[in-house]
Amino acid sequence: MKTFYIETFGCQMNAHDSEKVVGTLLHQGYQKVETPEEAELVFYNTCSIRDKAEQKVFNRLNQFKKDGKGKTFAVLGCVAQQEGEKIFEKAPHVSLVCGSASYNKLPELLVQLETGNRRVTGLSLDTEDTFETPVTRRDNPHRAYLTIIEGCDKSCAYCVVPFTRGPERSRTSASVLSESLELARAGYTDIQLLGQNVNSYRDPSPAGWDFATLLDNVGRVPGIRRVRFTTSHPRDFRKSIIDAIDQNTALCNHVHLPVQSGSDRILAAMQRLYTREEYMERIRWMKAARRPIAITSDIIVGFPGETDDDLAATLGLLDEVEFDAIFSFKYSRRPNTPALALDDQIPEEEKTRRLTIVQEHQRNIQIRRNAAYLGSVEECMVEGFNKATSQWIGRTSQNKTLNFLRPGRDEDVTGRYLDVRVTRAGPNSLVGEAVN
Ligand code: 5AD
Ligand code: SF4
Repeated sequence: MKTFYIETFGCQMNAHDSEKVVGTLLHQGYQKVETPEEAELVFYNTCSIRDKAEQKVFNRLNQFKKDGKGKTFAVLGCVAQQEGEKIFEKAPHVSLVCGSASYNKLPELLVQLETGNRRVTGLSLDTEDTFETPVTRRDNPHRAYLTIIEGCDKSCAYCVVPFTRGPERSRTSASVLSESLELARAGYTDIQLLGQNVNSYRDPSPAGWDFATLLDNVGRVPGIRRVRFTTSHPRDFRKSIIDAIDQNTALCNHVHLPVQSGSDRILAAMQRLYTREEYMERIRWMKAARRPIAITSDIIVGFPGETDDDLAATLGLLDEVEFDAIFSFKYSRRPNTPALALDDQIPEEEKTRRLTIVQEHQRNIQIRRNAAYLGSVEECMVEGFNKATSQWIGRTSQNKTLNFLRPGRDEDVTGRYLDVRVTRAGPNSLVGEAVN
């Protein structure tokens, strides 16, 4: 029996891919270990969204250049797809390079490795398949990821994903629903639907469901109490999604809708295919929903040509929307992407300055918004217990972290849904006390 170790970088799609890869390996008779030192096979499932993320895997591999003898190294995911066989030159102790569009072939590739082949690759993007397997080994017993669409057909000027994950492929609605039923039967109550752009989901079977219909149906699976989805693209985000959330309380009142910039000039240069006004129209749909919908977003600062006026437009958008949270990033030049060719790159120190401005601006908005929850009672799914603070870690339907005490009662409530009264609010989380 061979032992393996896997470390995962990047997004939830990658985290879930790793769960499927681990299941596949266990099914092939491999045994999972918790450190690379103990392992015969070491897997890195990698991210290349920004340069920093990409460097992480090469740092890891370098650590094992000398003392990795006797081990087999495999690079999976987005860096594998992007760098391909060049990885063998940069890190000669690597024996397998495989992108996410080739994971279906992993069993065959593993056989090649076992027969002594030291240069095994799975790099074709030419596939209509998604990576589906009944042997997924999920890390969390209550919340489950479920892929509905893989790849991306957009061409945002900064983004490497269309090159690393290939063209869009949707799963059939029947297969998504049967996995959802299976999850409910196994005791999962919380499902997160995943895709690079879930809004462009299109059922390939004759039923022909769109995303809103799929979402609504997953939300009706008996036993499933919460359904979230990520990531959305504003261009493909339809009002029917909000109608579904309005009609079905199992659908979480939270939408992550990356805007990237508040400036029309920069949105056009980014090839985002929407204007600020079109984005705001979607925000108005959400603000008019029956339940208050938490809205989160992604922002990139320092895209080539971004001026102080463009940055001011982004800050103005933050004020106008009042996001519940944002993830903000300095623009990072990526191989193959259209923005590589643009002049007027912004110096690193200037990007850092702009990032700080955006983050401080948003911090004040979050302090204000979160303070509005003081005194309210929120239903929390309990994710775990923090020994250091003696608090339970809860998550609200709006995706806010609500840490809470449960005085006088010490049974394990992980995975349960409890009502919690909010007693304190910070910029990034809430604190409270359980009422049941
Ligand atoms: N540089 C900086 N941020 C990026 N993102 C994607 N590509 C880049 C890049 N080249 C950000 C976007 C996206 C999030 C997942 O990562 O904001 O929504
Ligand atoms: Fe990173 Fe994007 Fe690949 Fe996810 S899809 S691992 S964020 S590059």
